[in-house]
Amino acid sequence: MSMNLDVASVDLNYERFRQLRMRLDMSRGKPSPEQLDLSQGLFDAALDEGYRARDGFDCRNYGLASGLPEARELGAELLEVPAAQVIAGGNSSLELMHDALAFALLHGVPVGEAKGQGEGRSAPWRAQGAIAFLCPSPGYDRHFAICEALGVRMIAVPMREDGPDMDAVEALVREDASVKGMWCMPLYSNPTGAIYADEVVRRLAAMPAAAPDFRLFWDDAYRFHHLTDERHATPDVIEACAAAGHAERVLMFASLSKVTFAGGALAWLAASPRNVAWWQRCAAVRTIGPDKLNQLRHVRFVRDRAALEALMARHRALLAPKFAAVDEVFRARLAHVPQVRWNVPRGGYFTSLYAPPGCARRTVELAGEAGLVLTPAGAAFPYGVDSEDSHLRIAPSFPALEEVRLAAEGIAVSLLRALEERGMSVR
Ligand SMILES: Cc1ncc(COP(=O)(O)O)c(C=O)c1O
Repeated sequence: MSMNLDVASVDLNYERFRQLRMRLDMSRGKPSPEQLDLSQGLFDAALDEGYRARDGFDCRNYGLASGLPEARELGAELLEVPAAQVIAGGNSSLELMHDALAFALLHGVPVGEAKGQGEGRSAPWRAQGAIAFLCPSPGYDRHFAICEALGVRMIAVPMREDGPDMDAVEALVREDASVKGMWCMPLYSNPTGAIYADEVVRRLAAMPAAAPDFRLFWDDAYRFHHLTDERHATPDVIEACAAAGHAERVLMFASLSKVTFAGGALAWLAASPRNVAWWQRCAAVRTIGPDKLNQLRHVRFVRDRAALEALMARHRALLAPKFAAVDEVFRARLAHVPQVRWNVPRGGYFTSLYAPPGCARRTVELAGEAGLVLTPAGAAFPYGVDSEDSHLRIAPSFPALEEVRLAAEGIAVSLLRALEERGMSVR
């Protein structure tokens, strides 16, 4: 990218931005190389102590389909769930979410009373007619892609700052037995940064459901990813569901993807004992066991909550200035523009920018023509359709700080140009 123009010193407009001939892809929320360097020790030293687990198990070999016991214990400590209720899987939590939905479609899920050694399963979801998932929107495009790929109808529900619109959720779940599940990102939700309020978690756990096999797919991807001094947390949903008499309702997912190496870390599933037994039975057909060497490396490198928090503080030191730069530029360029707003996230990987209705797609197009690739407009909505054409997902984690600043300027001038083209007021 050509950076020889001091953007702070010129009145940057869209034409000037184009002339910079920027070449930057900001479409995904990837960690930067500097963040990945923080975990280089994972490779460099973590297997110096050898390849044997605590009990002498040779981690180079097949086996331990539910994960290395110490990897399950690490998950238990971090997710605050008993280790017996935690599976340490492969490298990616998204993979576990995909498999959980596929298993439910193919085999059904535990319902009713447990029957002896058996599980008391619902009929396979695919045999129950057209089924649907609730999709708080804006949400995570890859969740929606899983539903689309597996033929699950998506019903958008509005997302608020404190979680999904619970009146809408409760009504749909109570009345429609085809609603089998719901995507939830309780903390620093992708891409709005929402944090579910305690009351939202309580209502999700307690709400009556027409489908006895209804599941919350609880993606706790940003549980450790704070951007401020306050380490926000949401209530223990597994406990809340059990307390409400719906012990089987929730499947929790998390990973270390944005703690160590993205897509090269380890992922956990946590749930009720019956759900864990169900997972073990379904997954045993799919794999003889995960990569225990990688799990061992992670256990030795990440160690415990205190070590994880120290590492996350170093991530924050790299990430927080980038989010601050986006906010600073938007405040300078967009604060006065009617119908434009954005959030300043307290954690996670994204900022959401809202353009006046009808302008998001054109803004992305204009930025793209100037060499700045953004997440496609509409991506954060089921089927890629933002009926307002207003939402833009900004992912500032990967580029260097100066590039982020310039990219934010570019987004702002692209948006202003889109408004001018439509004859809308920009001040
Ligand atoms: C909400 C959410 N869940 C899951 C993932 C992917 O996680 P993993 O790398 O563990 O598959 C992401 C990545 O951006 C995400 O934003």
